[in-house]
Amino acid sequence: MRFGPAIMQQAQQLAAFTEDPPRLTRRCLTLEHRQAGEYILELMRSAGMHAGLDAIGNAVGRYEGSTPQAPAVLLGSHLDTVRNAGRYDGLFGILSAIACVRALHEAGRRLPFALEVVAFGDEEGVRFGITMSGSRALAGTFDPAWLDRTDGDGVSLAEALRGFGGDPEGIPALRRARTDILAYVESHIEQGPVLLDAGMALGVVTAIAGATRVRVRVTGLSGHAGTVPMTGRRDALAAAAEMVLAVERRCGAGGTLVGTVGQLMVRNGAANVIPGHVELTLDVRSGNDNVRLEALAELQRICRHIAARRRCELTWEEYYAAAAAPCDAGLQGQLARSIEAHGIVPRSLPSGAGHDAIAMAAAAPIAMLFVRCGNGGISHHPDEILAVEDAELATAVLLHFLEHFQAP
Ligand code: HGY
Ligand code: MN
Ligand code: MN
Repeated sequence: MRFGPAIMQQAQQLAAFTEDPPRLTRRCLTLEHRQAGEYILELMRSAGMHAGLDAIGNAVGRYEGSTPQAPAVLLGSHLDTVRNAGRYDGLFGILSAIACVRALHEAGRRLPFALEVVAFGDEEGVRFGITMSGSRALAGTFDPAWLDRTDGDGVSLAEALRGFGGDPEGIPALRRARTDILAYVESHIEQGPVLLDAGMALGVVTAIAGATRVRVRVTGLSGHAGTVPMTGRRDALAAAAEMVLAVERRCGAGGTLVGTVGQLMVRNGAANVIPGHVELTLDVRSGNDNVRLEALAELQRICRHIAARRRCELTWEEYYAAAAAPCDAGLQGQLARSIEAHGIVPRSLPSGAGHDAIAMAAAAPIAMLFVRCGNGGISHHPDEILAVEDAELATAVLLHFLEHFQAP
């Protein structure tokens, strides 16, 4: 195998750059981000690329084409992780892209276009609640107001970026002109069971689901758990619990609609105090934007009704939204042909997970190559696994795709 073993070893090394060993957690603009970034830059340079960190902390490597300063095919994914993450989400897309460039470099070959590999520093949004800040900077959709967002310690994105050695004022200049990018192509683990259940190693992504994230705050009245009668309570957590189940019911309607309450915080919670202040996060996604928006509108109505019935106040703050992003049909066909060239029947599938590709869709035609992950497709979990043979095959297909690439 030309690629697989090295990629697995590099993913293992990157997993060592974690904030809470033995778990893998790597938030943006942390020491661990810098360690992983430096390691990736070294891989890029040894693969023949000019590489460095950009103003927002992305690690960017460029491998010139046969004519200098030619437009580039951008490849990549994200180096940050969720808490207690698996080691391949994001990282596989970076490492497989670097492996392709290395193969060209070692063969002394140049393509008729440049290749750029971007290791985005903040796709998951764990630290500041903003997702894809790195890719949105390159796509030109970064909102400067995000610089004031703070993390759990009250540190703003701007302060963290300066402390990291980045440059908030340099972010606008990161915007890539459409003429500079021929396409953005991301290889990624599927993070689901579809390919695994179908017994297929690779898939071509048709579209990336649209997503909305909402911060819901429920305010009731805290009080003594032993003295306040059940009938008179304004229990914020009981109201929130009804809302969580309403999300599950409404989003269980089938199709590609999914809804998740991933965080639920009780402020000043104590065993003997009726909860007065609760905050929950809501993540609603669908491949169909109308389905997602209708579900959100209905859920807001339902939550407001629950809060009113329980004499609680409710605030509903939408803090992230991305429309569904279709992948370029021509690039899907080219990926499919590269898969067929390796003796495999191509399989198309949508992505329920979000990716930097959804941000890059604002700057270029996008394509995604999925690779099977084992263990039932589990992801955002330490049991996330990728077979070395599948890593090998996906990288070989990606290289074949690049060697036969036709600009859309
Ligand atoms: O949430 C997502 O879908 C991605 O993993 N950030
Ligand atoms: Mn993820
Ligand atoms: Mn990812």
